[in-house]
Amino acid sequence: MANLAVVGLQWGDEGKGKIVDYLAGEFDAVARFNGGSNAGHTVVIGGRKHTFHLVPSGALKGKELLIGAGVVVDPEVLSGELSLLPDETRRRLMVDGRCSLVSPLDKEFDRVLEELRGSAAIGTTRRGIGPSYAMRALRLSPRVSDIIDGFDFEPLLRFYGKQGVGTAGLLGWAEESKRLLSGITGDVGGRITAIAEKGGSILYEASQGTLLDLLHGSYPYVTSTHTTASYIPAALGIGPSLAGKPLGVAKCYTTRVGGGPFPTEISGDLAETLRGVGNEYGATTGRPRRVGWLDLVALKYAIRLNGSKEIALTKLDVLSQIRELKVCTAYRHEGSESTDFQSSLGRLDEVEPVYESPPPIHGAKFEGPLPADGRKFLGWLERELDVKVALLSYGEERSKTIEL
Ligand code: IMP
Ligand code: MG
Repeated sequence: MANLAVVGLQWGDEGKGKIVDYLAGEFDAVARFNGGSNAGHTVVIGGRKHTFHLVPSGALKGKELLIGAGVVVDPEVLSGELSLLPDETRRRLMVDGRCSLVSPLDKEFDRVLEELRGSAAIGTTRRGIGPSYAMRALRLSPRVSDIIDGFDFEPLLRFYGKQGVGTAGLLGWAEESKRLLSGITGDVGGRITAIAEKGGSILYEASQGTLLDLLHGSYPYVTSTHTTASYIPAALGIGPSLAGKPLGVAKCYTTRVGGGPFPTEISGDLAETLRGVGNEYGATTGRPRRVGWLDLVALKYAIRLNGSKEIALTKLDVLSQIRELKVCTAYRHEGSESTDFQSSLGRLDEVEPVYESPPPIHGAKFEGPLPADGRKFLGWLERELDVKVALLSYGEERSKTIEL
């Protein structure tokens, strides 16, 4: 089995957790490479819902679990998550010593910054993710191995003290973090390379979505790290040849949590219906997600950024409950049509979606062989996007997945 990278092609919440859990059986290890506990990956087995924020979604398949250097680790969240999983999970987990930590000060600063932004707030998850990555770039943040060795917090405390962030309690937090992380720390890049040299294979699990990428997403309404397949080798500390084939995950409509442009957003009764049927509430924050039609302009851009020739399409069962469907195939701006996903935030805010009606799937049932209307819809989408739909998910349960 070759290495495979599961990446999100929209604004997150495409269903990556479900797809990773479904595929993990074929691999030796599952590795997270980006983001932190802002992620909320949901896996449903036998009606029981498991939500992963830091632990890779391969946890329930008994696989080796790797958290690479590009991830920012919140020890309190990790500890809480491990306490809900069988004890042996800890023995299968390795956290790279180079990961930056998310401290309680980062979380407070996330809140302070959001309040300062007022009506232009990003709508972050308030998990301290942006501040932790920023402190890394400023060379102020403790890494996992620093917290184990003993870290000089003075410069970080001085910085945060000046920002009006309360700095008490940090040393107790550092002690607790050391206790948690000692014994599960290692060199994740080295481990992946060793697995590959023995003929083993790795499944990479991205967090967030391509349109939330710090460089290529809808900046500044993005997360603070990279979310595309190209980031995998740099973030994990492996050679590019180990990065694996990209499998993009797309939901057959669009959702977004937090602020920022969303050309195909819908409101009113239809939005309420879609949100309700699709249970579109944040797995990390519980916020109602903004919902809208599938946007092929944005999706093609994301497919290009990841170089994915194959995609996994999720939630077709939800879309099949909506009577009249629309899909955006171009943007109209000042009288002209374009299929460019614009870098100008103002333009992205102003574009009018050009809609087409895809082949109807209303009322389609997906149990058993794929129904004719489902096949027609997928064929149309494959032609529009020039990709193959390799996996289809039509329900939250692990079993509701079709390989095509
Ligand atoms: P942050 O990553 O918490 O800084 O939030 C920045 C933006 O990314 C906000 O719009 C969040 O709602 C969004 N975001 C971060 N993580 C996720 C995720 O896992 N799913 C969906 N949106 C996310
Ligand atoms: Mg999510």
